[in-house]
Amino acid sequence: MKVDLTGRVALVTGAAAGIGRSIALALAKNGARIAVNDIVTGERTCEEIREQDGEAKFYQADVSSVAAVNAMVVAVEREIGPIAVLVNNAGVNIGTNRVPTDQFPDEEWHRIIRVDLDGVFYCARAVSAAMIKRRKGVIINIGSAFGVVPARLQCAFTAAKAGVLNFTKSHALEVGKYGVRVNAIAPGSILTEGTRSLFYNPESKQKADSLISHIPLGRPGEPEDIAAAALFLASDDASYVTGHVLVVDGGWTAGFARDW
Ligand SMILES: NC(=O)c1ccc[n+]([C@@H]2O[C@H](COP(=O)([O-])OP(=O)(O)OC[C@H]3O[C@@H](n4cnc5c(N)ncnc54)[C@H](O)[C@@H]3O)[C@@H](O)[C@H]2O)c1
Repeated sequence: MKVDLTGRVALVTGAAAGIGRSIALALAKNGARIAVNDIVTGERTCEEIREQDGEAKFYQADVSSVAAVNAMVVAVEREIGPIAVLVNNAGVNIGTNRVPTDQFPDEEWHRIIRVDLDGVFYCARAVSAAMIKRRKGVIINIGSAFGVVPARLQCAFTAAKAGVLNFTKSHALEVGKYGVRVNAIAPGSILTEGTRSLFYNPESKQKADSLISHIPLGRPGEPEDIAAAALFLASDDASYVTGHVLVVDGGWTAGFARDW
């Protein structure tokens, strides 16, 4: 897909790796100037963008810190320009130590809610006032299929992601009259370094097969599948789309993929 984002500034959180990296590369390929955010170094993503003749600058910040987020947004607007597109992508989940709600540790609950829900709110709030003033802007929140349907053993993640999806719609209702669009993407199971080490490796083939048996398209998605959705939502082709959750999950949440 080719869209024209020439000169527009896009801030992509959690863009050092995985889905965020792919979104940053896709937006840059279509003309956007990218502020690459991450809590760890995102210089590699910036280099990749420059290798494809794009423009990028790295902003290290923890999205769960309101002070860090506000300072980052001020710095991006001063150093690159007004933020036209915010992609709230940074996220964490519980690793392999998955336990039911009655055993879920406080610190994990707060860690996940702080990044996956508070972080989305802090970043969206930080860019909103200026977008409203300019009467233009796009916010894309990366939720999850597990914000649409529930899942066992991930109570904090499912709560945070469901929150992100309804927050997206509430925010869209508020800012629509100012020409600002707010949408979400709900990815299914996407092949990243994290999911590769958790499910998609030769040692856990059984786990992967079982997971894939729930996906009508019969495979995990690629980060580029999510980047394509983000590119569409960021573009003027989506100028009448707001308050929408674009599910990109190979059909996972459509219904039962297996006979029973
Ligand atoms: N991979 C999947 O299957 C999948 C499925 C559904 C939803 N998602 C969502 O997509 C988004 C990206 O996931 P991913 O799989 O690419 O993950 P990832 O772990 O590969 O990348 C996430 C990035 O966010 C960064 N990050 C973590 N905490 C941060 C913080 N406090 N501040 C700034 N950056 C921070 C990480 O350093 C990392 O670079 C997340 O919101 C995730 O919940 C992923």
